Amino acid sequence: MIKKYSVKKLLNQGKFLLNKKVLVEGWIRSFRYSIFISLNDGSTIQNLQIVLSTNKLDKIIMKKITIGSSIRVIGIVKKSIGKKQYIELQSLDITIYELVNPEILQKSILQPKRHSFEKLREQAHLRFQTNIFSCIMRIRHHIAFCIHKYFHEHGFFYLHSPIITTSNCEGTGKMFQITTMDLKKNQLIDYAKDFFKCKTYLSVSGQLEAETASLGLGKVYTFGPVFRAENSNTSRHLSEFWMIEPEIAFYHLEENINLAEKFLKFVIRYIVENSMEDLIFLNQCLEKWKKKKKNYLLEKLELILKFPFKKISYTETIKILDQEEKKKNIKFSHPIIWGMDLKSEHEQYLVDKYFKKIPVIIFDYPCSIKAFYMRMNNDGKTVRAMDVLFPEIGEIIGGSQREERYDMLLQRMKDTNIDSNKLWWYLDTRRFGSVPHSGFGLGFDRLVQFITGMNNIRDVIPFPRTPNNAEF
Ligand code: 4AD
Ligand code: MG
Repeated sequence: MIKKYSVKKLLNQGKFLLNKKVLVEGWIRSFRYSIFISLNDGSTIQNLQIVLSTNKLDKIIMKKITIGSSIRVIGIVKKSIGKKQYIELQSLDITIYELVNPEILQKSILQPKRHSFEKLREQAHLRFQTNIFSCIMRIRHHIAFCIHKYFHEHGFFYLHSPIITTSNCEGTGKMFQITTMDLKKNQLIDYAKDFFKCKTYLSVSGQLEAETASLGLGKVYTFGPVFRAENSNTSRHLSEFWMIEPEIAFYHLEENINLAEKFLKFVIRYIVENSMEDLIFLNQCLEKWKKKKKNYLLEKLELILKFPFKKISYTETIKILDQEEKKKNIKFSHPIIWGMDLKSEHEQYLVDKYFKKIPVIIFDYPCSIKAFYMRMNNDGKTVRAMDVLFPEIGEIIGGSQREERYDMLLQRMKDTNIDSNKLWWYLDTRRFGSVPHSGFGLGFDRLVQFITGMNNIRDVIPFPRTPNNAEF
């Protein structure tokens, strides 16, 4: 049997395989001078050069070959004469799986020329075959992998929080309802007859369940899809996105903040160390297409690793923004008042301009703009919340120390119109050995967006769900 290699493995081990017979499979990326095929199988951004022989069969194939076609090649590994690659494959036998019709190819994003990201999204099923999207997907995989690695190595347990839920953890924002009932218009619906005997939704966060688990397991994290039915058509919002939510018992806000910083730096360092080939390719694309300055992406990532994140309270943040507005003659479209929610113009100014692209962690937000579960400070006005803001992206993490005191939590639920009867089980955890605890939620897709330098979050998730869009 002839051994089958991925293009990645073959290129990596090529030196030791010289003059050996091997088998590779992939898609044709280019065909030059009627003898050189560039073959890619998705395992790496690099292509394998196949050199066709002049035998009869190869001659027939030469006439038919089109870009995008899928083939199987048996050949001999040879040292390449060309400078671009160390080895190439001298073909002995080629099998065609499928030839792409040139007319169909013309209309597709596989046609070898530069296509806009919007165009790629219109053919989301073919995006995986493009260099740029395959790079992003490989990096996305490595980010997910090293997130699990980090938590595993730090004593966290992976918790599978439910996707179907009856509660809205964040209290605000719309949820997707799920039902097996036939919802006819103007008909009184009795949800006691529905599948779960009550109204159910797709979860917006696994936090409440992670909290209950941490109050027994100590350190847990979730990593799963969450769903938000907000009509936000921005470059940073998805209706279905992935969130990582660590939750740690006996943790105060300061420890939570430190964990967030260490964790983010670990992930970015891991990607710099393990996905360099793909990062270099993305870097080149961004320089060429978006006219970004030289080494823009790599320098941006290095900057995250180089300096400690800035840590300032919400009140200090408001002061800075107010002073900057007065001093520098900038005009924010939303006036700066203590108690306001920070808008992206404020976040961007703070991170990109004021702190020169070093991430910022803002803590102790007014309770009026944060969720019911955050721990009240002694001032009675602010809660132990923390948001991590990244350059270009804005908020990438939202978290807090949780309200562990039963009476205080109940009061906050009442004040914010949260049905405490429905959340009896959550409240109950504050009666059976309640402890200080903290956690946060990292928007996975926003992190992938930051690391890959993409402008739009829709370009870093395989099948984006956004308002009016769930086709693929
Ligand atoms: O700030 P959020 O809403 O926090 C929570 O859901 C908490 N329960 C987390 C926790 O404390 N365990 O969301 C967390 C992060 C945001 O900082 C953002 O990065 C991301 O999730 N995010 C979105 N990402 C993509 N599309 C959306 N619509 C997002 N909404 C939030
Ligand atoms: Mg938030």
